[in-house]
Amino acid sequence: MGIEIKTVGVVGAGQMGSGIAHVCSIAGFNVRLNDLSEDRINAGLATINGNMARQVSKGGISDADRQAALERIKPARTYDDLSACDLVIEAATENEEVKRRIFTNLSPSLRPDSLLATNTSSISITRLAASTDRPERFIGIHFMNPVPVMQLVELIRGIATEHPTYESAKKFIRKLGKTATVSEDFPAFIVNRILLPMINEAIYTLYEGVGSVEAIDTAMRLGANHPMGPLQLADFIGLDTCLSIMQVLHEGLADSKYRPCPLLVKYVEAGWLGRKTKRGFYDYR
Ligand code: CAA
Repeated sequence: MGIEIKTVGVVGAGQMGSGIAHVCSIAGFNVRLNDLSEDRINAGLATINGNMARQVSKGGISDADRQAALERIKPARTYDDLSACDLVIEAATENEEVKRRIFTNLSPSLRPDSLLATNTSSISITRLAASTDRPERFIGIHFMNPVPVMQLVELIRGIATEHPTYESAKKFIRKLGKTATVSEDFPAFIVNRILLPMINEAIYTLYEGVGSVEAIDTAMRLGANHPMGPLQLADFIGLDTCLSIMQVLHEGLADSKYRPCPLLVKYVEAGWLGRKTKRGFYDYR
Protein backbone atom coordinates (compact mmCIF):
# COMPACT_ATOMS: atom_id res chain seq x y z
CA MET A 1 0.00 0.00 0.00
CA GLY A 2 2.37 2.67 1.20
CA ILE A 3 1.85 6.26 2.23
CA GLU A 4 -0.38 8.65 0.21
CA ILE A 5 1.81 11.45 -1.14
CA LYS A 6 0.30 14.94 -1.18
CA THR A 7 3.16 17.24 -0.19
CA VAL A 8 6.65 16.84 -1.64
CA GLY A 9 9.80 18.47 -0.26
CA VAL A 10 12.72 19.11 -2.60
CA VAL A 11 16.20 19.73 -1.16
CA GLY A 12 18.29 21.59 -3.72
CA ALA A 13 16.82 24.26 -6.01
CA GLY A 14 19.38 23.90 -8.84
CA GLN A 15 18.93 22.43 -12.30
CA MET A 16 17.43 19.12 -11.14
CA GLY A 17 15.68 20.30 -7.94
CA SER A 18 13.87 23.13 -9.70
CA GLY A 19 12.82 20.73 -12.47
CA ILE A 20 11.47 18.23 -9.91
CA ALA A 21 9.57 20.98 -8.06
CA HIS A 22 8.21 22.13 -11.43
CA VAL A 23 6.74 18.76 -12.47
CA CYS A 24 5.42 17.99 -8.97
CA SER A 25 3.51 21.28 -8.76
CA ILE A 26 2.10 20.89 -12.29
CA ALA A 27 0.87 17.42 -11.30
CA GLY A 28 -1.02 18.93 -8.33
CA PHE A 29 1.33 18.14 -5.45
CA ASN A 30 2.09 20.79 -2.84
CA VAL A 31 5.82 21.49 -2.95
CA ARG A 32 8.30 22.81 -0.38
CA LEU A 33 11.55 23.93 -2.00
CA ASN A 34 14.70 24.08 0.15
CA ASP A 35 18.25 25.23 -0.50
CA LEU A 36 21.15 26.71 1.45
CA SER A 37 20.03 30.32 1.05
CA GLU A 38 17.03 32.45 0.19
CA ASP A 39 18.88 33.59 -2.95
CA ARG A 40 19.26 30.05 -4.22
CA ILE A 41 15.59 29.26 -3.54
CA ASN A 42 14.57 32.44 -5.40
CA ALA A 43 16.84 31.53 -8.33
CA GLY A 44 15.16 28.10 -8.47
CA LEU A 45 11.69 29.69 -8.39
CA ALA A 46 12.70 32.07 -11.20
CA THR A 47 13.86 29.10 -13.32
CA ILE A 48 10.56 27.31 -12.70
CA ASN A 49 8.60 30.44 -13.59
CA GLY A 50 10.59 30.87 -16.83
CA ASN A 51 10.19 27.22 -17.86
CA MET A 52 6.45 27.24 -17.09
CA ALA A 53 6.07 30.46 -19.12
CA ARG A 54 7.75 28.66 -22.02
CA GLN A 55 5.23 25.81 -21.67
CA VAL A 56 2.36 28.35 -21.71
CA SER A 57 3.72 30.03 -24.85
CA LYS A 58 3.98 26.63 -26.58
CA GLY A 59 0.40 25.78 -25.57
CA GLY A 60 1.39 22.92 -23.24
CA ILE A 61 -0.37 24.41 -20.21
CA SER A 62 -2.71 27.36 -19.64
CA ASP A 63 -1.65 30.49 -17.81
CA ALA A 64 -4.15 29.62 -15.06
CA ASP A 65 -2.40 26.21 -14.67
CA ARG A 66 0.95 27.99 -14.39
CA GLN A 67 -0.29 30.36 -11.71
CA ALA A 68 -1.99 27.60 -9.73
CA ALA A 69 1.17 25.45 -9.93
CA LEU A 70 3.40 28.31 -8.80
CA GLU A 71 1.12 28.93 -5.82
CA ARG A 72 1.56 25.31 -4.75
CA ILE A 73 5.34 25.83 -4.38
CA LYS A 74 6.44 27.35 -1.05
CA PRO A 75 10.01 28.07 0.01
CA ALA A 76 11.35 25.91 2.85
CA ARG A 77 14.04 28.01 4.50
CA THR A 78 14.88 25.40 7.13
CA TYR A 79 14.57 21.62 7.31
CA ASP A 80 11.77 22.10 9.88
CA ASP A 81 9.74 23.67 7.04
CA LEU A 82 9.77 20.18 5.47
CA SER A 83 8.08 18.54 8.46
CA ALA A 84 4.67 18.36 6.73
CA CYS A 85 6.06 16.55 3.68
CA ASP A 86 5.01 12.97 2.86
CA LEU A 87 8.03 12.58 0.59
CA VAL A 88 11.30 14.53 0.54
CA ILE A 89 13.55 14.24 -2.53
CA GLU A 90 17.18 15.24 -2.16
CA ALA A 91 18.59 16.83 -5.35
CA ALA A 92 21.86 18.35 -4.15
CA THR A 93 25.31 18.17 -5.74
CA GLU A 94 26.46 14.72 -6.90
CA ASN A 95 28.81 14.29 -3.95
CA GLU A 96 28.39 11.55 -1.37
CA GLU A 97 29.64 13.60 1.59
CA VAL A 98 27.27 16.47 0.80
CA LYS A 99 24.32 14.10 0.46
CA ARG A 100 25.15 12.23 3.68
CA ARG A 101 25.41 15.49 5.63
CA ILE A 102 22.01 16.58 4.31
CA PHE A 103 20.39 13.29 5.37
CA THR A 104 21.94 13.40 8.84
CA ASN A 105 20.75 16.98 9.45
CA LEU A 106 17.39 16.56 7.71
CA SER A 107 16.15 13.28 9.22
CA PRO A 108 15.20 14.65 12.70
CA SER A 109 12.90 17.26 11.09
CA LEU A 110 10.86 14.70 9.14
CA ARG A 111 7.72 12.88 10.22
CA PRO A 112 8.61 9.31 11.22
CA ASP A 113 6.36 7.86 8.49
CA SER A 114 7.49 10.12 5.65
CA LEU A 115 9.48 8.81 2.71
CA LEU A 116 12.95 10.01 1.80
CA ALA A 117 14.39 9.78 -1.70
CA THR A 118 17.56 10.78 -3.49
CA ASN A 119 17.90 11.96 -7.07
CA THR A 120 21.50 10.70 -7.17
CA SER A 121 22.55 9.73 -10.66
CA SER A 122 25.19 7.20 -9.61
CA ILE A 123 25.81 6.73 -5.87
CA SER A 124 24.80 3.55 -3.99
CA ILE A 125 21.26 3.83 -2.61
CA THR A 126 22.06 1.25 0.07
CA ARG A 127 25.01 3.31 1.31
CA LEU A 128 23.08 6.60 1.30
CA ALA A 129 20.14 4.89 3.05
CA ALA A 130 22.47 3.84 5.86
CA SER A 131 23.13 7.52 6.66
CA THR A 132 19.43 8.09 7.36
CA ASP A 133 17.15 7.06 10.22
CA ARG A 134 14.78 5.28 7.77
CA PRO A 135 16.55 2.96 5.31
CA GLU A 136 13.31 1.00 4.83
CA ARG A 137 11.52 4.17 3.69
CA PHE A 138 14.43 5.36 1.52
CA ILE A 139 14.58 4.97 -2.29
CA GLY A 140 16.36 6.31 -5.39
CA ILE A 141 14.09 8.37 -7.68
CA HIS A 142 16.32 9.51 -10.53
CA PHE A 143 14.93 12.13 -12.90
CA MET A 144 16.48 13.06 -16.26
CA ASN A 145 17.44 16.55 -17.36
CA PRO A 146 15.50 18.65 -18.43
CA VAL A 147 12.98 17.21 -15.97
CA PRO A 148 9.87 18.87 -17.49
CA VAL A 149 10.68 17.32 -20.88
CA MET A 150 12.18 13.89 -20.24
CA GLN A 151 9.72 11.02 -19.85
CA LEU A 152 11.88 8.61 -17.84
CA VAL A 153 12.43 8.24 -14.11
CA GLU A 154 14.71 5.49 -12.77
CA LEU A 155 13.60 3.80 -9.55
CA ILE A 156 16.30 2.14 -7.46
CA ARG A 157 15.73 0.17 -4.26
CA GLY A 158 18.42 -0.17 -1.64
CA ILE A 159 18.85 -3.47 0.18
CA ALA A 160 16.61 -2.25 3.02
CA THR A 161 13.91 -0.49 0.94
CA GLU A 162 10.51 -1.97 1.88
CA HIS A 163 7.87 -2.86 -0.66
CA PRO A 164 5.31 -0.16 0.40
CA THR A 165 8.00 2.50 -0.18
CA TYR A 166 8.58 1.18 -3.68
CA GLU A 167 4.81 1.05 -4.37
CA SER A 168 4.35 4.66 -3.18
CA ALA A 169 7.24 5.86 -5.35
CA LYS A 170 5.85 4.03 -8.39
CA LYS A 171 2.43 5.61 -7.85
CA PHE A 172 4.03 9.04 -7.40
CA ILE A 173 5.88 8.72 -10.74
CA ARG A 174 2.69 7.61 -12.47
CA LYS A 175 0.90 10.71 -11.10
CA LEU A 176 3.66 12.86 -12.59
CA GLY A 177 2.76 11.33 -15.97
CA LYS A 178 6.24 9.84 -16.28
CA THR A 179 7.45 6.31 -16.96
CA ALA A 180 9.46 4.41 -14.35
CA THR A 181 12.14 1.85 -15.08
CA VAL A 182 13.52 -0.24 -12.25
CA SER A 183 17.26 -0.62 -11.87
CA GLU A 184 19.26 -2.66 -9.39
CA ASP A 185 21.53 -0.74 -7.02
CA PHE A 186 24.71 -0.84 -9.15
CA PRO A 187 27.00 2.14 -9.84
CA ALA A 188 25.25 4.74 -12.07
CA PHE A 189 22.21 2.44 -12.51
CA ILE A 190 21.07 2.02 -16.17
CA VAL A 191 20.97 5.37 -18.02
CA ASN A 192 24.26 6.75 -16.78
CA ARG A 193 26.03 3.36 -16.91
CA ILE A 194 25.45 3.51 -20.67
CA LEU A 195 25.36 7.26 -21.38
CA LEU A 196 28.39 8.48 -19.42
CA PRO A 197 30.97 6.08 -20.91
CA MET A 198 29.72 7.31 -24.33
CA ILE A 199 30.24 10.93 -23.28
CA ASN A 200 33.65 10.07 -21.74
CA GLU A 201 34.62 8.37 -25.02
CA ALA A 202 33.60 11.49 -26.95
CA ILE A 203 35.94 13.50 -24.69
CA TYR A 204 38.75 10.98 -25.38
CA THR A 205 38.00 11.39 -29.09
CA LEU A 206 38.59 15.13 -28.68
CA TYR A 207 41.63 14.59 -26.38
CA GLU A 208 43.30 12.30 -28.92
CA GLY A 209 42.62 14.78 -31.74
CA VAL A 210 40.39 12.45 -33.71
CA GLY A 211 37.95 15.30 -34.34
CA SER A 212 37.05 18.84 -33.29
CA VAL A 213 34.23 19.64 -30.84
CA GLU A 214 31.98 20.54 -33.75
CA ALA A 215 32.92 17.43 -35.76
CA ILE A 216 32.27 15.08 -32.85
CA ASP A 217 28.90 16.61 -32.03
CA THR A 218 27.79 16.87 -35.65
CA ALA A 219 28.84 13.25 -36.22
CA MET A 220 26.67 11.99 -33.39
CA ARG A 221 23.72 14.29 -34.12
CA LEU A 222 23.53 13.53 -37.82
CA GLY A 223 25.18 10.12 -37.83
CA ALA A 224 23.37 8.56 -34.88
CA ASN A 225 20.33 10.85 -34.62
CA HIS A 226 21.13 12.00 -31.09
CA PRO A 227 19.18 15.19 -30.22
CA MET A 228 22.40 16.77 -28.88
CA GLY A 229 26.02 15.91 -29.57
CA PRO A 230 27.81 14.21 -26.63
CA LEU A 231 30.00 17.24 -25.83
CA GLN A 232 27.02 19.60 -25.90
CA LEU A 233 25.17 17.13 -23.67
CA ALA A 234 28.15 16.99 -21.27
CA ASP A 235 28.04 20.80 -20.98
CA PHE A 236 24.29 20.57 -20.41
CA ILE A 237 24.58 17.92 -17.65
CA GLY A 238 27.56 19.73 -16.03
CA LEU A 239 31.16 18.53 -16.40
CA ASP A 240 31.53 18.18 -12.60
CA THR A 241 28.53 15.84 -12.55
CA CYS A 242 29.93 13.90 -15.54
CA LEU A 243 33.26 13.50 -13.74
CA SER A 244 31.62 12.41 -10.47
CA ILE A 245 29.61 9.75 -12.29
CA MET A 246 32.71 8.45 -14.13
CA GLN A 247 34.58 8.29 -10.80
CA VAL A 248 31.73 6.29 -9.23
CA LEU A 249 31.80 3.88 -12.21
CA HIS A 250 35.59 3.62 -12.15
CA GLU A 251 35.81 2.97 -8.40
CA GLY A 252 32.60 0.95 -8.10
CA LEU A 253 33.22 -1.42 -11.01
CA ALA A 254 37.05 -1.40 -10.73
CA ASP A 255 37.51 -1.52 -14.48
CA SER A 256 39.94 0.72 -16.37
CA LYS A 257 37.44 1.11 -19.20
CA TYR A 258 35.67 3.66 -16.99
CA ARG A 259 38.78 5.83 -16.42
CA PRO A 260 37.70 9.49 -16.62
CA CYS A 261 39.35 11.23 -19.57
CA PRO A 262 42.20 13.50 -18.34
CA LEU A 263 40.72 16.35 -20.39
CA LEU A 264 37.45 16.08 -18.43
CA VAL A 265 39.44 16.22 -15.18
CA LYS A 266 41.34 19.28 -16.41
CA TYR A 267 38.19 21.16 -17.41
CA VAL A 268 36.63 20.53 -13.99
CA GLU A 269 39.86 21.64 -12.26
CA ALA A 270 39.72 24.85 -14.34
CA GLY A 271 36.14 25.48 -13.16
CA TRP A 272 34.88 25.02 -16.74
CA LEU A 273 31.77 23.10 -15.81
CA GLY A 274 29.66 23.69 -18.92
CA ARG A 275 26.56 25.79 -19.36
CA LYS A 276 26.20 26.67 -15.68
CA THR A 277 29.61 28.41 -15.58
CA LYS A 278 29.22 29.67 -19.16
CA ARG A 279 32.26 27.72 -20.30
CA GLY A 280 32.81 24.06 -21.11
CA PHE A 281 33.41 22.46 -24.48
CA TYR A 282 31.49 25.46 -25.83
CA ASP A 283 31.72 29.11 -24.84
CA TYR A 284 28.38 30.51 -23.60
CA ARG A 285 29.64 33.97 -22.65
N1 CAA B 1 11.45 23.21 -19.26
C1 CAA B 1 10.31 23.09 -19.97
N2 CAA B 1 10.29 22.80 -21.29
C2 CAA B 1 11.49 22.69 -21.91
C3 CAA B 1 12.71 22.81 -21.25
C4 CAA B 1 12.65 23.07 -19.85
N3 CAA B 1 13.77 23.19 -19.12
N4 CAA B 1 13.71 22.62 -22.14
C5 CAA B 1 13.14 22.38 -23.33
N5 CAA B 1 11.79 22.42 -23.20
C6 CAA B 1 10.79 22.13 -24.23
C7 CAA B 1 10.70 23.20 -25.29
O1 CAA B 1 9.84 24.24 -24.93
C8 CAA B 1 10.16 22.41 -26.49
O2 CAA B 1 8.76 22.23 -26.33
P1 CAA B 1 7.78 21.88 -27.58
O3 CAA B 1 8.14 20.48 -28.03
O4 CAA B 1 6.41 21.94 -27.00
O5 CAA B 1 8.05 22.91 -28.63
C9 CAA B 1 10.83 21.06 -26.33
O6 CAA B 1 11.20 20.96 -24.94
C10 CAA B 1 12.06 20.96 -27.18
O7 CAA B 1 12.95 22.04 -26.84
P2 CAA B 1 13.63 23.03 -27.89
O8 CAA B 1 12.75 23.17 -29.10
O9 CAA B 1 14.04 24.26 -27.15
O10 CAA B 1 15.00 22.36 -28.26
P3 CAA B 1 15.32 20.91 -28.76
O11 CAA B 1 14.32 20.40 -29.70
O12 CAA B 1 16.74 21.02 -29.16
O13 CAA B 1 15.22 20.00 -27.45
C11 CAA B 1 16.15 19.00 -25.53
C12 CAA B 1 15.93 20.30 -26.28
C13 CAA B 1 14.78 18.43 -25.09
C14 CAA B 1 16.98 19.32 -24.31
C15 CAA B 1 16.85 17.99 -26.51
O14 CAA B 1 18.00 18.59 -27.05
C16 CAA B 1 17.24 16.70 -25.85
O15 CAA B 1 16.44 15.80 -25.68
N6 CAA B 1 18.54 16.59 -25.46
C17 CAA B 1 19.06 15.41 -24.79
C18 CAA B 1 18.68 15.46 -23.35
C19 CAA B 1 19.19 14.26 -22.60
O16 CAA B 1 19.81 13.37 -23.12
N7 CAA B 1 18.93 14.27 -21.30
C20 CAA B 1 19.39 13.25 -20.42
C21 CAA B 1 20.63 13.72 -19.82
S1 CAA B 1 21.26 12.48 -18.75
C22 CAA B 1 20.50 12.73 -17.33
O17 CAA B 1 19.77 13.64 -17.11
C23 CAA B 1 20.87 11.77 -16.32
C24 CAA B 1 21.92 12.23 -15.38
O18 CAA B 1 21.82 11.88 -14.24
C25 CAA B 1 23.11 12.98 -15.80
